[in-house]
Amino acid sequence: MRLVTLPGDGVGPEVTREAVKILTEVCDVHGIDLSVEEHLVGGTAIRNAGSPLPDSTATACSTADAVLLGAVGDPEFDDLLPEQRPEIGLLKLRQVLGGFANLRPARAVPALVDSSPLRREIFEGTDLLIVRELLGGLYFGQPRGFRNEDTEAFNTMVYSEEEIRRVARVAFQAAQNRRGKVTSVDKANVLETSRLWRQTVESVGKEFPGVELDHLFVDACAMHLVTDPRRFDVILTENLFGDILSDEAAVLTGSLGMLASATIGGPIDLFEPVHGSAPDIAGRGIANPLGAIASAAMLLRYTGGHEIAARSIEDAMTSVLDEGYRTPDIARGSGETIVSTEEMGSHVAKRAADNSQSSLAYHAV
Ligand code: NAD
Ligand code: IPM
Ligand code: MN
Repeated sequence: MRLVTLPGDGVGPEVTREAVKILTEVCDVHGIDLSVEEHLVGGTAIRNAGSPLPDSTATACSTADAVLLGAVGDPEFDDLLPEQRPEIGLLKLRQVLGGFANLRPARAVPALVDSSPLRREIFEGTDLLIVRELLGGLYFGQPRGFRNEDTEAFNTMVYSEEEIRRVARVAFQAAQNRRGKVTSVDKANVLETSRLWRQTVESVGKEFPGVELDHLFVDACAMHLVTDPRRFDVILTENLFGDILSDEAAVLTGSLGMLASATIGGPIDLFEPVHGSAPDIAGRGIANPLGAIASAAMLLRYTGGHEIAARSIEDAMTSVLDEGYRTPDIARGSGETIVSTEEMGSHVAKRAADNSQSSLAYHAV
């Protein structure tokens, strides 16, 4: 597997380093041939190469098997227009790679249930997957800009049937392998794009008679996520709604630092934690690397088809949390050992290598 890593800004390099450490270790044990090439993106790319997505990065990514990104965003560039900011590097990268379905799983890990802002009886047992459309909607719709001497600004929310259909199929297929339920989220009481979204999802749903489909308006969905998160299996939604709902879902698990993502459906898959560059904690060695590490596990599963290797990482994360290791963002009570980003990565790497050794030994028998 030829992997390109884009550590990016803020905590991006800190968490990506741990993910790559574990990936290298696990691939080694499983005999997976992995090559890793690092490139620039985001604010650091603006500083060092004059562009948030240098041509050399785009070229390297478009010939890789998969891309693993840390985070982009830097307060130094906060006053710039959208087309000059670090974030545009990520948005252009998503277009270059072509993946349109962004999978963001959020699950109640038993050891962390008390780190959730929700009460245990509400959150326990939650296991949901957000399927966020990633290449359409307000993020990319034209026209956009400022007018009337910059006293007005506008963006365009646009979706075609085909853009909705292809991401809906990913959601229904995911539900077939889970608990068989899709909740499509829109704002069909106000927006035309949402009317089309709802009709199209309904018609795709007919191809999947074994999957139950319901619809929620996005405001109500935000409410149900905090009052009854167990009602969800797969949440299917458009780009901006998915961005907002996935931060909400992420923090239910204990911290934004826990959530992973995989972007699939295009020529090259992209993996990235859901969190940003976290400038408030960057450079202190305390960021939670588990979202990045879980993204690396998704990479082994979705791009590599290495299910056992992916599981060895996920099981290692569970063991390390069961043993009480916590980065500060998920620490809550007594009996926990507070660890740095690097220590958390090392604990997971060690358990993952052990798990891999024993699963290989088991399969050899
Ligand atoms: P953020 O996700 O960076 O941080 C929000 C809060 O969560 C902060 O308090 C932060 O300390 C905490 N947090 C985030 N990741 C964490 C981790 N791994 N461990 C522990 N705590 C963590 O969001 P923000 O502050 O709104 O944005 C900061 C910058 O990141 C902005 O420039 C934004 O555009 C960018 N951003 C990038 C991505 C991405 O690259 N995929 C995603 C979101 C935001
Ligand atoms: C995310 C981020 C990005 C998004 C930004 C940094 C462009 O918030 O991946 O959730 O809005 O998609
Ligand atoms: Mn986001």
